[in-house]
Amino acid sequence: MNDNLSIIILAAGKGSRMKSTTPKVLHKISGFEMLYYSIKEAKKLSDDIHVVLYHQASRVQKAMDKYFTDINYTIQDHENYPGTGGAVMNINLKHENTLVLNGDMPLIQSSELEKFNTNDNSAIVMSVLQLDDATGYGRVIVENNSVVKIVEQKDCNDEELKVTTANAGIYSFNTKFLNDNLPKLSNDNAQEEYYITDLVEFAIEANETVTPLIVDEENFKGVNSKFDLATAEVIHQNRIKKEFMSNGVIMRMPDTIFIDSSVQIEGESIIENNVTLLGNTQIINSHVKTGSVVEDSTLEDSDIGPIARIRPKSILKDTHIGNFVEVKKSNLNGVKAGHLSYLGDSDIDTGTNIGAGTITCNYDGKNKFKTIIGKNVFIGSNTKLIAPITLEDNCMTAAGSTLSKNVKSGQLAITRTKVRIIKDYFYKFFGKK
Ligand code: UD1
Ligand code: MG
Repeated sequence: MNDNLSIIILAAGKGSRMKSTTPKVLHKISGFEMLYYSIKEAKKLSDDIHVVLYHQASRVQKAMDKYFTDINYTIQDHENYPGTGGAVMNINLKHENTLVLNGDMPLIQSSELEKFNTNDNSAIVMSVLQLDDATGYGRVIVENNSVVKIVEQKDCNDEELKVTTANAGIYSFNTKFLNDNLPKLSNDNAQEEYYITDLVEFAIEANETVTPLIVDEENFKGVNSKFDLATAEVIHQNRIKKEFMSNGVIMRMPDTIFIDSSVQIEGESIIENNVTLLGNTQIINSHVKTGSVVEDSTLEDSDIGPIARIRPKSILKDTHIGNFVEVKKSNLNGVKAGHLSYLGDSDIDTGTNIGAGTITCNYDGKNKFKTIIGKNVFIGSNTKLIAPITLEDNCMTAAGSTLSKNVKSGQLAITRTKVRIIKDYFYKFFGKK
């Protein structure tokens, strides 16, 4: 934590280039809104964080209230002062330096942001990208390690458009310089907006130092379009997966795996190709085979898949789940369910085998009911368990049974119509071949 730093996060813009009714900063990367990441990293550095909102402000604030309680929200006077410069006006800043971040930069990390706090005499330290193609960014001219010019893409002449040094959009201001110069901003430019970048011009004119800090797109990429969103998510996913692999997790073809940033994977776990791990999921010493999806669930010493789906609030321990098995809101402890089953709202105990095609009929169209299955139970293939239903330890069901009664220890439950054999019926129906 830094005791001389205030942070402003800009999140008022509409994000028209996203072509969406959802505000730009609420689009998600690895399961969380872009703005969540900016605030999370900012909180590691400052106790004075201001988030600037305008478009769908209450929706954005509500989304962030789920995660953070100690953030100052400011509503930009967007009608009169649109633009990134307008966004930083009228904020009561506590500290000597002020870091300004964009809410559309989900890849930033606090370790990178710390570098802006140089403690020298610069009026501004600003982030600069050296790119092959700077399309979409404001252009920056750097001479002798000092910024000498800054111009927005829409205000560039042909020569300036060729410049590949770009403004990444993060600035550390001397707070006094910021407060003294904000009133001088005007909207005399192509977009008729108040640009924060004009403060750089003011500093240059006043012979103040504007220090460029060279940063890379890996951390400072701005998201303006759905394509940028996808590109940033790939970078973010690679970070998540690299971290797990360095902690000993095996991943097969990691480019095909998707993992929300809230997921935890521990121990000697194996994640095969095309696996999706979502939400509040924990994988401990487990093997998730190809094509499986796990959401808000815990797997411990278990293996699932290929092509298994573990839906929210499931806890699997020492359990084997095979292909085409769906589990929802169930506790499975030492269970085998190898093929083609639906196990919902159930508790199933050690040594129990679930035959292929078993269905817990948990929903009657109005309410959900529980299925409780004890230890060492043998469920025959294609059993329908009509919940609420309890099967005690050490009992069995016959293949194809539809059960609406509890089964006690030692019993076999069987529902079957008698088999009728009709001689020569085939020939009568199809004729002799
Ligand atoms: C801005 C910079 C550009 C830089 C780029 C880096 C300006 C004028 N330009 O352009 O030099 O290369 O970032 O990504 O600053 N916002 C508000 N209020 C507004 C307008 C925007 O809060 O009135 C917020 C947006 O929500 C966003 C951030 O400011 O988080 C940047 O806005 P955006 O429209 O994306 O600016 P760029 O055109 O990318
Ligand atoms: Mg932007």
